Amino acid sequence: MQPLDPHKLPVHLAVIMDGNGRWAQQRMLKRIVGHQRGAETVKMVVEQAWLLGINYLTLFAFSSENWSRPALEVRALMTLLKKYIRQETARMMRKNIRYNVIGNRSDLPGDVNETLDEAIRTTSLNTGMVLTLALSYGGRQELSRAAAQMARDAVSGKIAPEAITPDLFDTYLDTGGLPDPDFLIRTSGEMRISNFLLWQLAYTELYFTDINWPDFTINELHKALADFQSRERRFGKTSDQLTDRGTLSND
Ligand code: FPP
Repeated sequence: MQPLDPHKLPVHLAVIMDGNGRWAQQRMLKRIVGHQRGAETVKMVVEQAWLLGINYLTLFAFSSENWSRPALEVRALMTLLKKYIRQETARMMRKNIRYNVIGNRSDLPGDVNETLDEAIRTTSLNTGMVLTLALSYGGRQELSRAAAQMARDAVSGKIAPEAITPDLFDTYLDTGGLPDPDFLIRTSGEMRISNFLLWQLAYTELYFTDINWPDFTINELHKALADFQSRERRFGKTSDQLTDRGTLSND
C-alpha cells in the first residue's frame, strides 16, 4: 500500500462512483448486482476515510438525471439505499459519523425520506466525519434553486443584490456549511464532472481511474490519495508564492 502523509490528506473527499452497470454487464450479471457490489465499496471507502481521519466524505449516489433510468433499476437503487442506511446507522453511531444529504429530497419516495430523516436525526449530534450522500442531486439544479431563493430574499428585502458575494452564495447551496472538496475521485474511466458540485469543485484536484466502482479497493484509494499528496495546490498563485505550505495542508 502507498505510504500516506497523515498531515496532507484532503479535508473533504468527494467521489463519483461510476461503473457499477458496466462491471455487472461484463460479468453477464444484472446491473443491480453491480450496484449491490458498489454498496460494498461504499462501506470500504467510508471505513477507510474514517480511519484516515478525513473530515468530510461526499458520495454521488443518485443524480437528478438517474430518474430517467428504467423504473426497475431506479426502484432497486432506492431499496438498496434504504437498506444501506438502515444497516449502517449503528456503525455510524459507533464511529461518531454524521449523515447529511444534498439534492432535491422532494423527488425521493416517502419511505426513503423517512429512512433518511431517521438516520439524520439519530446521527445529528455526532461530531466526527460528515458523510454526505448526494441524492437526486444535480449541480445546475442546486444552483438554480439557490438563485431562486436569493431572488425571493432580495424581493422581500432580506438581502440586497449588492450583498451577493461568493461567500453569501455558498450559504444558499445544499452544501452550505461544508468546505469545498479538496479532492474528487471518479471511477470507470469517464473524464467528466457530470453535473456534480459544479460551484464547489472550482479548485478541487481531480483524479480519474479506469477501475469500475465495484472493483475500487483500499489499495486504489490509497493510490489516489498518494497522487493527491503529490500535487501542488496553487489556488491561482504562483509556485514561488506558496512559501507557507503548511497552510495548504489540513493541520
Ligand atoms: C453509477 O454506475 C452508479 C450509480 C448511478 C449509483 C451509485 C450507487 C451505489 C454505489 C450503490 C448504492 C449507494 C449507496 C450510498 C449505498 P452506473 O450504473 O452509471 O454504471 P455504468 O456507467 O457502468 O452504467
